[in-house]
Amino acid sequence: MDIKKLLEKMTLEEKLAQISQFNANCLHVDSEGGVTGPASSLKLTKEQVAATGSTLNFVGAKEMIAVQKEHLENDPNKIPLLFMQDVVHGYRTIYPIPLGLGASFDTEIVEECCQMAAKEAAVGGVHVTFAPMVDLVRDARWGRCMESTGEDPYLNGKMARAMVRGFQGDFTDKYNIAACIKHFAAYGAAEAGRDYNTVDMSEHVLRNYYLPSYKAAVDEGVRMVMTSFNLLNGVPAAGNKWLVQDILRGEWGFDNVIISDYDAFREMIVHGYCEDEIECAETAMIAGNDIEMMSVCYLKGLPKLLEENKISMQQIDEAVLRVLKLKNDLGLFENPYRVASEEEEQALHLCAEHRLLARKAAERSAVLLKNDGVLPFNKFNVKRIAVVGPFANEGMIGGWACHGQPEEAVSVYQGIKALLPNAEVLYARGCSGAVNEIDCSKIKEAVEIAKTCDAVVVCAGEFAHFSGEGNSRAGLRLSVAQQTLIRQISEVNKQLAVLLFNGRPLVLSDVIEDAPAWVTMWQPGTEGGSAAARLLFGEADFSARLPMTFPKAEGQCPIYYNANRTGRPKWDDNADIGYVSRYIDVTNAPLFPFGYGLSYTEFSYSAPQLDKKVMQDQDTLNVSVRIKNIGQRRGTTLAQMYICDQAASLVRPVKELKGFQRVELEPNQEKTITFAITKEDLAFWTARGCFDAEKGKFTLWVAENSAQGEGVEFSLV
Ligand code: NOJ
Repeated sequence: MDIKKLLEKMTLEEKLAQISQFNANCLHVDSEGGVTGPASSLKLTKEQVAATGSTLNFVGAKEMIAVQKEHLENDPNKIPLLFMQDVVHGYRTIYPIPLGLGASFDTEIVEECCQMAAKEAAVGGVHVTFAPMVDLVRDARWGRCMESTGEDPYLNGKMARAMVRGFQGDFTDKYNIAACIKHFAAYGAAEAGRDYNTVDMSEHVLRNYYLPSYKAAVDEGVRMVMTSFNLLNGVPAAGNKWLVQDILRGEWGFDNVIISDYDAFREMIVHGYCEDEIECAETAMIAGNDIEMMSVCYLKGLPKLLEENKISMQQIDEAVLRVLKLKNDLGLFENPYRVASEEEEQALHLCAEHRLLARKAAERSAVLLKNDGVLPFNKFNVKRIAVVGPFANEGMIGGWACHGQPEEAVSVYQGIKALLPNAEVLYARGCSGAVNEIDCSKIKEAVEIAKTCDAVVVCAGEFAHFSGEGNSRAGLRLSVAQQTLIRQISEVNKQLAVLLFNGRPLVLSDVIEDAPAWVTMWQPGTEGGSAAARLLFGEADFSARLPMTFPKAEGQCPIYYNANRTGRPKWDDNADIGYVSRYIDVTNAPLFPFGYGLSYTEFSYSAPQLDKKVMQDQDTLNVSVRIKNIGQRRGTTLAQMYICDQAASLVRPVKELKGFQRVELEPNQEKTITFAITKEDLAFWTARGCFDAEKGKFTLWVAENSAQGEGVEFSLV
């Protein structure tokens, strides 16, 4: 399609409709009503509805085909609609929440998961997914931790790239869909972890930690970027010219579509930044947004702004052309339905291949937090097992699960039953799982059955709706009822493992000692229960590591491993000394640090060997480490390389991750792995306002988590 020619014949109103997006249920010609929340006051005209450019929130191929058909009958230029959807961690087959995927540190399986989701979504009529969410997060109180891959810019960047590759492929396969990274920018730094709250941060923090994952996705060729809800240093991100126009478009050269978040243009009035919808339109367009999602500032404001010469036709045309180009690249002008098909939905959704991948991803994401030798349970000795707790017989697919259904997911109870067909598997709920539950009256039943069993699994944690958008928590502990359940069971049966289902790091300090084994499953998805069973009985190995620090107390939040040094550090966390940076009631150390996780075996790491102690700008420094499996079972360790720049023009953090490798070894097997460091790995946003590596001394560690390892030194000269 010659999109420039097409643009020439479009009226202003048609152009504006092309850069406006509404829920699918708004797109009937008699569209008023049936819409709730901010959308109910949209008051679209028939013409605007007919010429709309894109839509979101629709259910599958049948609806997509019907809406597209109706649209094409009415659209004056016969321009197909773009269909967008939040395919965040699966479409119908659900894989673990992104925080779990982050824990896998396994970019290959993450890419495969997104490829699988793209395929299911494409046949469901989706052209663009509002994913991946690549916001860095340091505060476990924020509900949207679950959508992020964690607190580290290096890991997030690798995951962002893998996800974009998975969804988009090379954009030639019929099952490829466009990815849309979000939320640009720094949405994850909401003050006090309260969703939609203000963000204030220095430019070097923004550049060094928060922006790299968006940049990584842009470099990977992502087709769309969504601007965020938050203020950044007093300016709403959606209206932030510096962020969007100068950095994203200017510095990074991003020339694909930029879309707002839901109603975010209009919310600039509520923020206290714009006076009315006209000013919102002006601000948003000057900032560089193309599509407005679920508000009508462009439709209302741009005609007036054009008349007043505050906005030019060229600016509008550029936005429309980007949208038309995406439609063209997706082949929509030739085939507006692409691969949407109810038959293909039947064949692909929840098919055996996808379920298997979902199980593997859940296994790769689960982190073994503690194991005093009870795990793995022995399949042959366990004849009678109790699976108890509020999440024991639930499908734990998590929030943002698109068209996934909890009933279609395997619960832990079902997973264990399937793995142990000859064992007696008993179930009791014990308590409801409500967030502040104190009623312990149902615990007795669970304790009674636990007494009689060879092993007990308690499924504790959070429902899906305890995290996700708008669901921040000020307290991060298990409820009194859940804690009591674990405690009372441990008094009657020590063959006990607790499986946590959580969308964020939790504070486990009060209860961690009460059970000998703890696992975080996150919200593991459709095959979570099968994965849990295989992990508990040693048919799968634990290899995941924490992508976010688990605090000891809520008051430590925000807590993250790559924090700046202070002038008065507490070198020895156990020492009782004053006038250092400390708390008087809790250590500085978290309960579990970033990168932490156990295996069913143990590994030894040699000191890192450097091939040179002094490197110059053009050099590559090679680091090698010998790793040995010193336990009795096969297993996978995650070798993590960290550095610290000892003195810099802007203080650098105590440690920063610069590489990781999953290493699988048989008992007694040894392997030497190498990491390469170039000047680029040492670069940061300096006091001179650019990325550069500064000369001087560095410390380097290769270890099993961010809190371990003996450092070695090298210099850049
Ligand atoms: C609001 C959320 O912030 C965003 O992540 C999502 O993509 C849109 N709604 C559309 O559902």
